[in-house]
Amino acid sequence: MGGVHYGCKSCPRVPSGLTGRRTGGMGAQSNDWSDLMNLSPPRGTRDFFPEDMRLRSWLFDHFREVARLHGFEEYDAPVLESESLYTRKAGEEIVDQLYCFEDKGNRRVALRPEMTPSLARMILQKGRSLPLPVRWFSIPQCWRYERMTRGRKREHYQWNMDIFGVPGVTAEAELMSAVTTFFRRLGLTSADVALRVSSRKVIEEVMNSLGVPPEKFGPACVVVDKLEKRPREFIEAELAKLDLGTELVDALLDAVSLRSIDDLAARLGEDNPAVVELRELFDLAEGYGYADWLVFDASVVRGLAYYTGVVFEAFDRGATLRAVCGGGRYDRLLSTFGGDDVPACGFGFGDVVIVELLKDKGLLPSLPSGIDDVVFAFSSSQRAAASRVAGSLRAAGRAVELVLEKRKVKWLFKRADRLGAEHVYLVAPDEWANGTVRRKTLSTGEEENVSIETLGLSG
Ligand code: HAM
Repeated sequence: MGGVHYGCKSCPRVPSGLTGRRTGGMGAQSNDWSDLMNLSPPRGTRDFFPEDMRLRSWLFDHFREVARLHGFEEYDAPVLESESLYTRKAGEEIVDQLYCFEDKGNRRVALRPEMTPSLARMILQKGRSLPLPVRWFSIPQCWRYERMTRGRKREHYQWNMDIFGVPGVTAEAELMSAVTTFFRRLGLTSADVALRVSSRKVIEEVMNSLGVPPEKFGPACVVVDKLEKRPREFIEAELAKLDLGTELVDALLDAVSLRSIDDLAARLGEDNPAVVELRELFDLAEGYGYADWLVFDASVVRGLAYYTGVVFEAFDRGATLRAVCGGGRYDRLLSTFGGDDVPACGFGFGDVVIVELLKDKGLLPSLPSGIDDVVFAFSSSQRAAASRVAGSLRAAGRAVELVLEKRKVKWLFKRADRLGAEHVYLVAPDEWANGTVRRKTLSTGEEENVSIETLGLSG
């Protein structure tokens, strides 16, 4: 989209008043750049100028609408949480990346890196009074001290949809329906994006067969997630830290290389729970009509310790970008917080990679400013009349910019054009005396006098 720089690193924005010249207006009072404070936000965080904000709102509107269409209710939680909510000792990157500090009351706090622990906390807080199933969504701002790459920032917004209280893969299927519905609304197809799906039960099976104790499952999965990204020696060293032997590596490498459910069934048996639920999930996907988006891929493990069953991630088929979204089942998270477990699954979908993908595919929309009309008084004696005109139009629901300062007509039309307004209303003495104002339609150049009684009624 021309002019929109959402997340664009190569476009430093220097407000025109801050070009290093003495401007006389607001802003720099110095000739020397070095005298200016650093005008960039902290590395990895983002300013949202109005054009960026328009794109963000457009994206969030789609998030909200898809959640609404799927019968989910919105919730929220504080961006600042107790650090202990996140300090799981499973070797996850997300814990190393925590923005944490001590507050003025000597409490250890953290900016949330993800929403799932806050959601679990809220579910536990309500306890048995909460009717199940819970189908909730949120669009939280999340903070991670990440190594920055294309699509990864230190601050991002993450659409979350989660279901509590449904033990079977019908829940996963419903969540994937939301993800694929969202992609479709934005103009993406199954040729652009794939949802790569597996189940942690595949890895659990391998570990059980080699006698790995259940409490090592989560931390071991975090290591297995790196299997295809890091050298074997690294994986072996990490597993050794968990007192797990090198024989696991071969078995795991073998398991994560599987690329079809039939191969998985041949390895584990048709009755294996992983095979049964994956087959059911793919059948459900046929019913929903999004099976062409799904790819079984045993190498999808996910880097968070709490997942217990089906896991999935969306990737661009060209594989040039990081994961667009990711999620899975986490049936045992609540007990790690001291509560009773409730079956749960969900996903997080960031606002950064999707914009990169839409940019690559030429699918970013061109979004207008949202201003419908510009109202202009010819002279100061028409100011009261102009504000009345603006008031009538606003009462009729039109978005109106009332020109508040003394300006020339030439400036007015340039301004209205830049805003993409539909009409300009000129409030002039003769017309006003006749109970009318002059209206120009910018797209056609057509001009007419309209009665002040009918303002806003005719668009
Ligand atoms: P996650 O895979 O860590 O999962 O993040 C989910 C998505 O958030 C990613 O696929 C990506 O779109 C976005 N994301 C994550 N980190 C960044 C970053 N630094 N910059 C930009 N985007 C980012 C979770 O967070 C789980 N809590 C999701 C979940 C919800 N699982 C169950 N319910």
